[in-house]
Amino acid sequence: MAEVLAGLEPRDGGRYLDGTVGAGGHAAAILERSVPTGRLLGLDVDPAGLAAAAAELARFGDRARLVRANFATCDVVASANDFVPVDGVLLDLGLSSIQLADEERGFSFRARGPLDMRADPDLRDTAADIVNSWSERDLRGVFAEYGEEPEAGRVAAAIVRRRAKDRFETADELGRFVAGVKLRRRRSIDPATNVFQALRIAVNGEIANLERGLAAALRILRPGGRLAVISFHSLEDRTVKRFFARESRDCICPPHLPTCVCGHRAGLRVGTRRPLRAASAEVDRNPRARSAALRIAEKLP
Ligand SMILES: C[S@@+](CC[C@H](N)C(=O)[O-])C[C@H]1O[C@@H](n2cnc3c(N)ncnc32)[C@H](O)[C@@H]1O
Repeated sequence: MAEVLAGLEPRDGGRYLDGTVGAGGHAAAILERSVPTGRLLGLDVDPAGLAAAAAELARFGDRARLVRANFATCDVVASANDFVPVDGVLLDLGLSSIQLADEERGFSFRARGPLDMRADPDLRDTAADIVNSWSERDLRGVFAEYGEEPEAGRVAAAIVRRRAKDRFETADELGRFVAGVKLRRRRSIDPATNVFQALRIAVNGEIANLERGLAAALRILRPGGRLAVISFHSLEDRTVKRFFARESRDCICPPHLPTCVCGHRAGLRVGTRRPLRAASAEVDRNPRARSAALRIAEKLP
């Protein structure tokens, strides 16, 4: 939290877009720092998150506005709400503690609820739809690419064999099944962690949303405005790092070309060579902050 506020530097009169407002914790801190007239537009795809944010932000009156929307289109949403340009954009990726704790959403391999994993309840396909219908090849690809699961092929093959007799319905059922199939184990994490991460990314289109959201955020920032992104796993952080690297270069031509033909101009100045990590006091208070990696960049004129 301290690093996000130091990066965004919220100030009186500023306009801030929180693309993942969740329970409104960061949003409230931004509004407190930008008294008395700073404003915030908070987006979330999850109505449960927005309800929590509405309660948390009610004390700020019309300085806070909440919209159910995907941050992938934050530029369109900001324009429609007469909220451009903005002085700062925050994307705090992943899921909120409220979502993770809700057994009915099926995010955890211990959840006894349906194997769902949709952050946006209006999405068509759940994790159960993917697990019970995708080909073995596609499952293997998702587990390998999004979960970096070393036993992707073995797990995918076992799932396909088992579902022919008995469909997967609940999250804990899949969690136990994957744990039983895997040969190698790391003591520090549950054996199903990578497969669950992969399914969650696939269900919610997380990487594609992030790529679109970063580009959309850059379009609505005013020169000097800041973009802060908190990632929770290496795939997300790599996507942010690559976007920042590309957007901070004046030329993105392949290295073998003798002269520049791309016409690309740097749009960002990167403020963090390496991602910032939460201070140990914050991790003590909130253990999930342990894996958070924060990158910050400033829009160039
Ligand atoms: C880690 S939480 C944010 C917590 C928030 N910063 C706070 O202080 O309470 C991430 C939130 O982003 C939402 N989310 C995930 N993907 C999204 C997307 N593509 N567009 C909008 N919201 C998204 C989730 O529903 C969740 O509520």
